[in-house]
Amino acid sequence: MRTDQGQPIRLEDYQPADFLIHHVDMTVQLFDGRVEIDSVLEMERRPGRGTAALLELEGDELELASLALDGSPLSTDRYHATPDRLRVEGLPASGRFRLAIGTRLAPEDNTKLMGLYRSSGIWCTQCEAEGFRRITYFLDRPDVLSTYRVRLEADRSQAPVLLSNGNPAEAGDLPDGRHFAVWDDPFPKPSYLFALVAGDLDVLSDSFRTLSGRDVALAIYTEKGQAGRAAYAMDALKRSMRWDETRFGREYDLDVFSVVAISDFNMGAMENKGLNIFNHKYVLLDPDAATDGDYAGVETVIAHEYFHNWTGNRITCRDWFQLCLKEGLTVYRDQEFSADERSRAVKRITTTRNLKAHQFPEDQGPLQHPVRPEQYREINNFYTSTVYDKGAEVVRMLETILGRDGFRAGMDLYFERHDGDAATIEDFLRCFEDATGKDLAQFALWYHQAGTPTLTVEDDFDPARGRLTLTLRQSLQPGAARTGTEPMYLPVRFGLVGHNGGDLEARPTGTAEVVDDVIHLREREATLVFEGLSARPYLSILRDFSAPVTLRMDERREDRLALARLDPAPFNRWRALSDLLGETLRDGARAMQAGRPAAFGPDVASIIAATAADEALDPALRAEAIALPSETEIARLIERDVDPDAVHAARTALLGEIGTHDARLFSDLRERLSHAGAFSPDAASAGRRALRNVALGYLSAAEGRPDVAARQLETADNMTDRFAALAVLCQQFPGQPETEAALAAFYTRHRHDPLVIDKWFAIQAVSPHAGTLDRVAALAGHADFTLRNPNRARSLVGSFAAGNPVAFNRADGEGYRWVADRLLAIDKLNPQLAARLATSFRSWQSLEPARREQAKNILKTLSESNGISVDLRDIVDRSRT
Ligand code: TRP
Ligand code: ZN
Repeated sequence: MRTDQGQPIRLEDYQPADFLIHHVDMTVQLFDGRVEIDSVLEMERRPGRGTAALLELEGDELELASLALDGSPLSTDRYHATPDRLRVEGLPASGRFRLAIGTRLAPEDNTKLMGLYRSSGIWCTQCEAEGFRRITYFLDRPDVLSTYRVRLEADRSQAPVLLSNGNPAEAGDLPDGRHFAVWDDPFPKPSYLFALVAGDLDVLSDSFRTLSGRDVALAIYTEKGQAGRAAYAMDALKRSMRWDETRFGREYDLDVFSVVAISDFNMGAMENKGLNIFNHKYVLLDPDAATDGDYAGVETVIAHEYFHNWTGNRITCRDWFQLCLKEGLTVYRDQEFSADERSRAVKRITTTRNLKAHQFPEDQGPLQHPVRPEQYREINNFYTSTVYDKGAEVVRMLETILGRDGFRAGMDLYFERHDGDAATIEDFLRCFEDATGKDLAQFALWYHQAGTPTLTVEDDFDPARGRLTLTLRQSLQPGAARTGTEPMYLPVRFGLVGHNGGDLEARPTGTAEVVDDVIHLREREATLVFEGLSARPYLSILRDFSAPVTLRMDERREDRLALARLDPAPFNRWRALSDLLGETLRDGARAMQAGRPAAFGPDVASIIAATAADEALDPALRAEAIALPSETEIARLIERDVDPDAVHAARTALLGEIGTHDARLFSDLRERLSHAGAFSPDAASAGRRALRNVALGYLSAAEGRPDVAARQLETADNMTDRFAALAVLCQQFPGQPETEAALAAFYTRHRHDPLVIDKWFAIQAVSPHAGTLDRVAALAGHADFTLRNPNRARSLVGSFAAGNPVAFNRADGEGYRWVADRLLAIDKLNPQLAARLATSFRSWQSLEPARREQAKNILKTLSESNGISVDLRDIVDRSRT
């Protein structure tokens, strides 16, 4: 039992630990049903901390088997052990001592997937954030850094592969068919980076020569028969290693680097030193089973975890409040990697879409918190889009403000000054101040003030004088987090576009500093004046989404349409269209909700058609530009009293209108883009498939028949095209014979591949119809369904709750009730997963009154349920406020 009741932990209470743990020597004996852990901690009192302090080590569901100090067993009056704490008294006043702790674990019973557990027979660990304390009693906090030596013993046939962090030191045979391996990690690390893996695994091996000429042995381990599917992940790993050398001057530091793919995993992947452990979804790929999105995801996550070796591992976090120090920075790094490897503009578009879809709702609802939170009850609930994605935006703004070179100089100083440290956000910012001489005090508000700032832009053109006046205002609404509302430092990238396209020379005067194409807005309001213009230019503002704000501007419709065609910044061509579509759908949904028809205006369909046909544009960019915003995004734009049915109706109507406006074009596009020859996952080929599949959606909507999609499903030679066709069938033609036949055939074809069966559950769960609830409830009883595997639980429950606004938000509240019941069942097995899925309720306050009432009642019921975990209670209670 966990006795920790989730008392709030506060940043202001931070104190260094009273003891140091210099070295950990650990022996792990693995048996079926039982694991014996014997760890020897080489410890010392922290100098200057006095001698009275008793030692308090953390545990979680632990059972103490033995305890000895410097080789002698401790008598029971010297210590007190509970499942979550071990207190030891009378330790030496000075000098080093060795505390030997024995614990016994039952990994087969560990359904939380934190600590040591078994997945498909493989022993593996997950220690971030507080999982190491489920293995042995420890000072389980990121500012306690130790070197580790780990000896693993297991039956050789059951676990021929024995892995831990660092470099391999020794290996050999033991009696009774058992064997051992010893691993040595010379880099001091916090316990959350500890890992071990043991099992009968296949391996894909390779090697990498670093810039300074050291050879690193690379290995990706998988379940039996799967190693061939790790080839793309291996390629992505080598490209990541090279990129970190060239872009940031960072080399890998151990002799081996291993990745292990595991099928039961709470999140995406984990950056354990030298031994990354992955959800197999982010390792295993082949064209028949994976979509282009899956390929891009593998590349991103492989890069992300690898980049943590410097931003996270060599320099770690002082405490968990500093989580964005490693996560925001590492997301920024993986985004830059993808931008360099693929298309920079397209990457920035998908990042912006993702930010608006996940981070903005979080920042604008009850789960709001600053990028660096100041208190938490359960740290696992703070691995959020705000910490990760807004954290990355903050780093990106730093780069925009300081320029590439200034930013790089600050990063170099950070690596030099803090290598081996457990650092803070203040340490990080200080490096940029010291490297560039710039004062970042105001900029630091991005870490402290929660909420999405609003940037209001007004323009006024005086034709007689040829003068354009811009007024920029920023504001921040107080929200659930109750942080400040001081003006922030907003870098606003912009251009003035002439009527023939191309940027005009723009050297304004005014009250904000302008450096090249960036306005440095630091005050609540600033005015800029541009002189000598022969005609009113088109204002292209917030290029590259240079600050994560809500932009308010009375953009003239003709300006938007012109910028969608003319803007030399491809990102802002997308933004012009995306904002136009967003507002069109917002207004259309509002009209339909009020019982009026939605009138979209003919220019929307024609600009979409013109963009789709524009051969000068990269197909991937065209696909992004013509895709309609999601229903969740439209709902966010409506802000208040949202009726998800009206949103869906408006979106469906516009899809049909665009499709029928030029069905011929979409049909031709599909012809022209169809590929011949072997499948390749490269970005250019993926972009052509993406455009072709958006066209499929429009064409199907225009025809009102499933034929084209059904045909594509039969003839496609890759999962991207097959799955896109299946999605069109489930979304536009639910319940029709073609759709049912397609789902059945898809299942039969892929039933032996769990990653594809996840897709099969998910695509049914997001079908936007009230009746989907009955289908989803039936699927929960399917022989292949289980709540124990997080990917599978997410595929049905998560997809339904987070990806199906119509059915989840059913007016009768049945969608909420069904999800709430699943949450309670999942919570008994895996509280972290239950809490994560519960965040789908976070936007309930923006719904129309009847649904709001239903959601409120369900959250109350959840909160009053007996025995719910600290994890789930934390999310539910915060969501209610
Ligand atoms: N640090 C990991 C990453 O971002 C994520 C992570 C945190 C995690 N806690 C976890 C992964 C628990 C799996 C399970 O790369
Ligand atoms: Zn990370």
